[in-house]
Amino acid sequence: MKSICSDWEFTPEWSEDFLRGLGSFEQVRLPHNVKELPLHYALPEHYELLCGYRRRLRIAPELRGKRIFLQFDGAAHIATVYLNGKECATHRCGYTMFRVEITELVSYGGEDLIAVRLDTSENAAVPPFGFVIDYLTYGGLYREAWLDIRDKSFISDVYVTTPTLDSAEIAVTVDGGAKNVRISILDGARCLASMVSDRTFKLAGLSVEPWTLEKPRLYTLRAELLDKERVIDSVDTVFGFRTIEFQADRFLLNGEPVFLRGLNRHQSYPYIGYAATEHLQREDARILKQELQCNAVRTSHYPQSQHFIDECDRLGLLVFTEIPGWQHIGDEAWKAQAVENTREMVLQYRNHPSIVLWGVRINESIDDDEFYKRTNELARSLDPSRPTSGVRYLEKSRLLEDVYAFNDFSHDGKTPGAKPKKAVTKNLDKPLLISECNGHMFPTKSCDAWERRQEQALRHARVQNAAASDGGHIGCFGWCMFDYQTHKDFGSGDRICYHGVMDAFRNPKLAAAVYASQGEGEAVLELGCPMDIGDYPAGQVGSIYAFTNADEVKLYKNGNFVKSFKSEGWSGLPHGPMLIDDTIGELLKTQEGFGEKKAAALHACLNSAAKYGLANMPLRDKLKMGWCMLRYRMKYADGYELYGKYVGNWGGEATVWRFDAEKDGKVVASQTKCPGKRLHIEALASQTQLREGEIYDMAAVRIRIKDENGNIASYAQLPVSLELSGDCELIGPALVTAEGGCCGTYLKTCGTGGLATLKISCPQAESVSIKFTVS
Ligand code: GAL
Repeated sequence: MKSICSDWEFTPEWSEDFLRGLGSFEQVRLPHNVKELPLHYALPEHYELLCGYRRRLRIAPELRGKRIFLQFDGAAHIATVYLNGKECATHRCGYTMFRVEITELVSYGGEDLIAVRLDTSENAAVPPFGFVIDYLTYGGLYREAWLDIRDKSFISDVYVTTPTLDSAEIAVTVDGGAKNVRISILDGARCLASMVSDRTFKLAGLSVEPWTLEKPRLYTLRAELLDKERVIDSVDTVFGFRTIEFQADRFLLNGEPVFLRGLNRHQSYPYIGYAATEHLQREDARILKQELQCNAVRTSHYPQSQHFIDECDRLGLLVFTEIPGWQHIGDEAWKAQAVENTREMVLQYRNHPSIVLWGVRINESIDDDEFYKRTNELARSLDPSRPTSGVRYLEKSRLLEDVYAFNDFSHDGKTPGAKPKKAVTKNLDKPLLISECNGHMFPTKSCDAWERRQEQALRHARVQNAAASDGGHIGCFGWCMFDYQTHKDFGSGDRICYHGVMDAFRNPKLAAAVYASQGEGEAVLELGCPMDIGDYPAGQVGSIYAFTNADEVKLYKNGNFVKSFKSEGWSGLPHGPMLIDDTIGELLKTQEGFGEKKAAALHACLNSAAKYGLANMPLRDKLKMGWCMLRYRMKYADGYELYGKYVGNWGGEATVWRFDAEKDGKVVASQTKCPGKRLHIEALASQTQLREGEIYDMAAVRIRIKDENGNIASYAQLPVSLELSGDCELIGPALVTAEGGCCGTYLKTCGTGGLATLKISCPQAESVSIKFTVS
């Protein structure tokens, strides 16, 4: 296939003139978003257009006799394609790919004009529209477009499944007369097996490695269409050998139980909406797998970019994907479209080993047996190898699917993390999955106070823990990966849902550490507290939580050991949060030289004062304090001094708190908390070597303002200026605000190779520059 992402002409207002090649236009490249949007207070009205795209094309005369197609990977939302003014086809789903044959319409040797009339509005005639929706739906030809020239006979579909870990079953569909197909299983250049047949193939006893979460081994299936010995068409499909099984109480990958621990992902980005290039799509999968240590993702609420799913295949990230929709079910024509969307989703994505579950219900819709019978039957007939599911907020709703997926928003901070299975479904013999939790129950911004950020993190931990330990759930997907733009009915008034464990630029909030700390790889240590006494009510440092994958956290105050802490009571999590509830520990013995008994008695009193405040100490502790003063002949001033030193922590030098995370007796991560004196900018580019071609390339830059100890300076709400020079373009404003100390930006190549430099400055820190090369 040949990419046709360059040289498009765009008009925000479709007209007959535009269709005929006349009128004004803007030169654009795909992926394209019809309108760059602000981060806050974006309006759907800005992108709801009846707009047009057109592009010229030349098909050489020698290609006469071939079959010629256009392919659009994503056109949001209703696209009518014309060639030389003649209408070819209309596609009514913004989230699936479609192809249009133009063989009969091109003028071999002459110039042809492709035009696309695109309705980007929230047109109630098609899913997901018709009622309110909690996300913006953007608009544009926002994925790639292709020209596909094939022989008279060609392979139109390949479907591969792996019933066992050493066998594959393949069905090849051919359009046109040719009969013989050769299929080969390739490991790089090495051919492992090959077979010629007409349409279906069974290969067994293959010497292959399985696709696992740790080592997601991929192979290539090459299907070649033969005319005698000559290869007239060839299609490569990447796949993996893996088996899946959904039992009543567990999910098995290759026969091994795996608890699905993941997050929901939208496909949106600040400023560009859905129009992200391959690199950014892959980057999100990398963040989920490597930074957030998820083993699964739900593509809420629609099929997402093939690049994203390809990367899930490559990294070993399990996927629950679903048809577009949000709560609303429309009329018969609308339902027919949803059934069509089911067909397209299954046919377009069924070779991905990462996909383990089809969502064939409209997210959170009511029961509609007649409708869902159709989507279920269709998905099962097109892909018997995977179970169906569908996400609901209803308890005990009708289950036509194989897996009951339930949005369990029951946890409110005090209630249990998850509802028991018997309260959710009558189908106890079928698996139950939490498809969403938290989200709107506790919207949390990066710039919120630490208590809120810590509570958001704890809520994710509690629901994940409950789901994984109560024996009734096979997995849990938190809502959601990052903050996203939304409609007026949702969000925080600025039309952003602050439901993410990351911000919209993918900067982590504390809740991200709940997920990140479940992995065994790189050491993780994040603390849910600033330790700055002035940031606590009455200066009382409350419960501190450490999120870490280490065995224990050792606390040091001004270099002196206080106490060691372990995680307790989180049997569902490989690494539950650690409660740090004692900041005095050994200090009365080591620093004051108190004997065992005296230290213990005073420790109890001071801890109580730290917890409740001097005035509100329980009577019991007040009496104990009095007793200590008598027993150890302490004056009021002695008590006051101890309080100032060990509870108030004020006076003299600022207290330096160090938290060392230890694994197998070795310090693997360390964090120091102390009021910062110097700020610096940390900027992480997703890539610095960009590629320019038919399609442009992008990089995401995540920006954090940190103190000298590497803590995000969450009150550094500073203006950040972004100066880009050279051969790239900045996307979005050149002056942004660090929210909770975090912001970000995007840049893209602009048609030439070369160099670019991004200079990031803010008033209280030294500027940072990142260099990019474009080849
Ligand atoms: C669910 C819905 C999601 C999102 C979430 C917020 O009801 O499926 O799209 O709106 O709530 O918590």
